[in-house]
This record gives sequence, structure tokens and C-alpha cells, in this order.
Amino acid sequence: MWLADANYVGAVVNAGGMGFITPRSFPTVDDYRAQLHKCREITEGKPFGVNIYVSARPEANEELAVFLDVAIEEKVEFVETAGFSPKAFMPKIKDAGITVIHKCTTLRHAQSAVRAGVDAITILGAEAGGHPGMEMIGGIVQGAVVPEGLDVPVVLAGGLGTGRQLIAALALGADGILLGSRMTVAEEIWADEKYKQRIKEISQSDTRIVMSVFNDNSRVLDNATSRAVNELEEQGITDFEQYRPFVQGPNQREAYATGDFDRGTLSMGQSAAFATEIASVEKIFDDILNDAIVARDRLAGLDPN
Ligand SMILES: Cc1cc2nc3c(=O)[nH]c(=O)nc-3n(C[C@H](O)[C@H](O)[C@H](O)COP(=O)(O)O)c2cc1C
Repeated sequence: MWLADANYVGAVVNAGGMGFITPRSFPTVDDYRAQLHKCREITEGKPFGVNIYVSARPEANEELAVFLDVAIEEKVEFVETAGFSPKAFMPKIKDAGITVIHKCTTLRHAQSAVRAGVDAITILGAEAGGHPGMEMIGGIVQGAVVPEGLDVPVVLAGGLGTGRQLIAALALGADGILLGSRMTVAEEIWADEKYKQRIKEISQSDTRIVMSVFNDNSRVLDNATSRAVNELEEQGITDFEQYRPFVQGPNQREAYATGDFDRGTLSMGQSAAFATEIASVEKIFDDILNDAIVARDRLAGLDPN
């Protein structure tokens, strides 16, 4: 959210990954459409995706049909659904021939999304930035359990940022990995340099879970705002209006624009530990792949006897 624009997604695709533009990041539907055009230009026609975050609140989902219609008109090849069940949107997406990857946090939700027709699953571990779910199952368990329980490709996510973890994910049975927090220091991310410098400095200990009180765990950067939110939760306050000034989306945009990283609840996972250098997407991918080769060779040299 806010960061996945055409420049970033285009760079991810050109470096050999798959990226997803977040439609809500742009002020109008026309601006979102313009980003799809720009991404098509940057990638010279290569496939890319759009993220559709399905809310528990139906009124928040009204825009999603419009976002999908635009993606279909613009012949976007991939959709990542996340949050709640994508079932209501599946006929529209599948009729358009789009490949759907649903991102979720339990095997049960994954199985139900597969029954609804999604083509692949991204399974999140508790380490993940953003919404790691209420059961908070660790990635090492998700990776071993979920691919076994499904007959579609599975992408593992949450806490990942190195090539040795990529090899571990493949060894567990996953078909790929998804990186969120690790990528926030990419040169192609438009956020202010001060924000990226902060992410570079922090470790796996510098995140917090907020909004558990609303059954909506969110893993965010440990900052003045997330500490204030945790204080409201500790006081047992359940009136959302008291949280709104801290958690509303525009604060996050402001934080990225100004580099004031104490502002807003900013999605961030434990994999921030691996975001140690501001570098191009291509360099980040190269570093991960080089690390993966070292890990693969190390395993190849182990004597099982
Ligand atoms: C800054 C930031 C913004 C995110 N925004 C979204 C979003 O808009 N929609 C979504 O489905 N996931 C979002 N996520 C979650 C990621 O897509 C991904 O699930 C998560 O980052 C994976 O865990 P990791 O952070 O340990 O790599 C965001 C994550 C970060 C770090």
C-alpha cells in the first residue's frame, strides 16, 4: 500500500519477479489506470499484477469491482487477492482469464480459496509485515504444512529476505517466496530516504503487533504511533474512533513522503533485519540468488551418513 507503483512493480518484473500494483495507493481511478499504462511501458509488455485487498467490511469492497474492471480492461495478467475470501470476485476474474494468487494465513483459508477457484496460494507466517492473521503460525510451520495440504502452487511469505531462506522454502515444499519488508529499501521505492535509512538500521526486534483488539493483527514498525496504539489496546479501549487518528491511511502516506517514520502505523515485518542496504531491485534479487547458490552448495556438500 502506497509504495507499489508502476516504477517499483516495473522494476520487480524487469528483474525477473512478479509485482502487484496497489490500486488504493492512487488518488483516483484514472491515476490508477495511468499507473497500469506506465507499468506496461516500463516492462515492455511483460506480465504484471494488481493487488486486491478484500476487507471484512462490505462497504470497503465496493471500489474493488471498479479496480478489477480497470485491470481487466487493461489486460493485467495477474491478481493477488488478500485479506478476506476472494470468492465473490472469482467469476469476474476467471472469466477474464486472469491468474489469481490468494494470500492468506491458514491452511483452512487456503483450501477454501482453492475451492473458490484460485490458481495458487501465498501463505503468510507470523513474521510477516502487514496482516499475519490471528493464529500467528510461524513460517517454518506454514511452509511444511500448507504445500502438503494443497494441489496448487504455494508461495511462502513472512520473515523472508535471504537466499538461504529461499532454499529452505523450496526444501519445505513451497514453489516460491514473496518479499514485502525486504523490498522497502529498494531504490525504486519512492519513499523518502530517511524512511529507508531507518529500515536499514532496525533489526528483527523492531516490529510490533497492533489492532489485535479488533481481531485484525497488524505487524508494523515499532515507532511512537504503534506504541500509542498498543497503549490504547492495553487500556481495553474498543472504540475505533479513538484509534482512527493513529491508524488512518493518509498518515502512512505522509510518513513515506516526509521520511517521518514515527508517523502512522507502517507495515513492517521481522525480515526488516535483511534490509541492510539501499539498492536497486535487481541488486537485491542478485544478492538473494547468490546467497541461495551458497546455501544450495552447502547442502549438496552435506554427507547424510
Ligand atoms: C510497507 C508494506 C505495505 C504492504 N501493503 C500491502 C497491501 O497493500 N496489500 C497486501 O495484500 N499486503 C501488503 N503488505 C504485505 C506484503 O504484501 C506481504 O504479505 C508481507 O510483507 C510479507 O511478509 P514480509 O514483510 O516479512 O516480507 C505490505 C507490506 C509492507 C511491508
